[in-house]
Amino acid sequence: MTKTILVAGGAGYVGSHACLALAENDFTPVVFDNFSNGHKDFVQWGPYVEGDIRDREALKAAFDHYKPIGVMHFAGFIEVGFSVANPAAFYDNNVCGSINLINAAMDSGVKAFVFSSTCATYGEPKYTPIDESHPQNPINPYGNTKLIVEKYLSDLQTYCGFQSIPLRYFNAAGADTEGRIGEKHDPETHAIPIAIEAAMGKRDGFKVLGSDYNTRDGSCIRDYIHVTDLADAHLKALNYLLQGNPGKPFNLGTGTGTSVIELVDNIRDVANQSFEVTMASPRPGDSPTLVAQNSSAFARLGWKPQRDLNTIITDAWNWHQKMEH
Ligand SMILES: NC(=O)c1ccc[n+]([C@@H]2O[C@H](COP(=O)([O-])OP(=O)(O)OC[C@H]3O[C@@H](n4cnc5c(N)ncnc54)[C@H](O)[C@@H]3O)[C@@H](O)[C@H]2O)c1
Repeated sequence: MTKTILVAGGAGYVGSHACLALAENDFTPVVFDNFSNGHKDFVQWGPYVEGDIRDREALKAAFDHYKPIGVMHFAGFIEVGFSVANPAAFYDNNVCGSINLINAAMDSGVKAFVFSSTCATYGEPKYTPIDESHPQNPINPYGNTKLIVEKYLSDLQTYCGFQSIPLRYFNAAGADTEGRIGEKHDPETHAIPIAIEAAMGKRDGFKVLGSDYNTRDGSCIRDYIHVTDLADAHLKALNYLLQGNPGKPFNLGTGTGTSVIELVDNIRDVANQSFEVTMASPRPGDSPTLVAQNSSAFARLGWKPQRDLNTIITDAWNWHQKMEH
């Protein structure tokens, strides 16, 4: 029997890696993407529908045609700065679009819904590492839109029995080790690709945003998780729901923090290139330390990250070299 999974936003960075993991595990991923930030050449493991999750008719047609047994939802805007500059557009895409998609999935009898949430739903950490019961108080519209969707899913689970798992990623990074797909955002706001572009001479150096935090070297500490480990967690979450287990949110991180200064040193080593690094003002709303407590995903899903920071940076570096040629 064909096991079809609808992957909303499957032409993007994390979604395309999830499609690869699905195909390697006997599922057929059907990408549903409007290509606003996705890439047609990232769709390599199944068919695609060019459509917008804000378009209910297009969603209904896709569900009627492909009859997916599960949904993975990656579609949306991801940039915090844009969420502050244009909250209305952000809520329209991330909240209204998500509600349409969830309703279409529920109407068509989908049994498993996996949602890309984020550690940004926690806001300022009250303690670290952050576990799933940490209070959720987002500090920007991006985090708010994700939390609203989590709450909608939670209500549907409680009152309608619609099972879902929100996965709260920390910092997604790296690329497929075989170099088939990788990170390609426009604009790029993530530290690893920006530092790699600096090492490749495509940017005038790298700015460390804040060097006066109360951390071991003054720069922010983040938890970088390999995108293939994220994809593996999505697969495990999907199977967990398909086996009839009740949904619940899980953190996806390594549990190890890396400071921005340590990150840049690692990138210099892997690239074997020096580049200018300057200390700049902190970004408003950036927390000093965001590190995941990931033991719940291990206990329930049997998921454990397999790839370390060196693999993340090496795979990202190789992907950027490949894009250049
Ligand atoms: N990248 C990270 O570090 C990170 C961290 C935490 C959470 N997330 C979440 O993971 C998800 C995927 O992130 P990503 O880095 O792969 O982003 P991405 O921009 O690469 O992928 C998003 C995809 O969704 C598509 N899309 C956007 N709006 C759409 C719409 N209305 N209809 C159909 N398709 C639409 C885009 O074209 C793109 O292909 C996002 O929801 C993001 O919030 C990402």
